[in-house]
Amino acid sequence: MVADLRHDDFLQAEPAGPLESSQNQPSAVLTVEKLALSLAGKEILQQVDFSLSAIGVTSVIGPSGAGKSSLLRCLNGLESGWTGGVKIDGNDIRQWPGGWDQLRRHVGLIAQKPLVFNTSIRANVCFGLHGWRQRRRADGLVKASLQQAALWDEVADRLDAAATTLSVGQQQRLCIARAIAIKPKILLLDEPTASLDPLSKQLIEQSMLQLAQQIPLICVTHDLEQAQRLKGQVIFMCDGRVIEQAASDQFFRQPQQIETREFLRWSVCDCD
Ligand SMILES: Nc1ncnc2c1ncn2[C@@H]1O[C@H](COP(=O)(O)OP(=O)(O)OP(=O)(O)O)[C@@H](O)[C@H]1O
Ligand SMILES: [Mg+2]
Repeated sequence: MVADLRHDDFLQAEPAGPLESSQNQPSAVLTVEKLALSLAGKEILQQVDFSLSAIGVTSVIGPSGAGKSSLLRCLNGLESGWTGGVKIDGNDIRQWPGGWDQLRRHVGLIAQKPLVFNTSIRANVCFGLHGWRQRRRADGLVKASLQQAALWDEVADRLDAAATTLSVGQQQRLCIARAIAIKPKILLLDEPTASLDPLSKQLIEQSMLQLAQQIPLICVTHDLEQAQRLKGQVIFMCDGRVIEQAASDQFFRQPQQIETREFLRWSVCDCD
């Protein structure tokens, strides 16, 4: 079960970084305008436009090769050769103070395959903590982050054990704890539960829903039922373009675009 502990105290008490929100900001914290990416002479993303509100989950679905992972990589600066505009709280991510490394502190990315460091569980969570204020509160941050990632109960008595001794599902939750310990403004998740057992999947979804009450999450998934469980918004991508974006209920009940309808019909048939 996910502990009902909010980490508002450190999400809010200490600004996550040097940027302050612009004055008179609209409610959207992330706006993407005409984002385009070419790699090896191939158009990977074309004119991608969407915006996210301040909290909640946005699921990104679409066929393999649609550009979903590439989109996430652009948003946290792992791909930098794109054109167009990406703003967080009105701030252009190309102008982020401290550059892409600092941006990645604010825009966490959880990959499909958990990447834990070959250190202790505690050290993994503390990895991104900088400055005396955060380090002084490290024990509290470790506990709060692990609780929010639904892992605390399983590791509370073995924080100094090697992170590599955890199961894959536990390692994925450790990666989430590490990402949220540094108070991201946005958390990106690329098929975070793709190869996990049902219980791990459920724990991570609960953790995401709890976290989404405080910050926006973007979750790429091939699991349409997961996209429905996560509620929020759904973005459907195909061939590097956003075809449709709508609230989850509306998206699955009344998809507007023919490509979306085809994809949903085909996906349901594929599951049978
Ligand atoms: N570094 C690269 N160089 C050339 N092509 C690339 C590179 N990275 C990705 N691509 C291509 O970009 C397209 C989109 O890839 P991407 O990984 O974003 O798709 P995806 O929607 O995440 O697919 P999946 O659901 O299979 O994970 C694919 O055709 C892929 O081959
Ligand atoms: Mg992908």
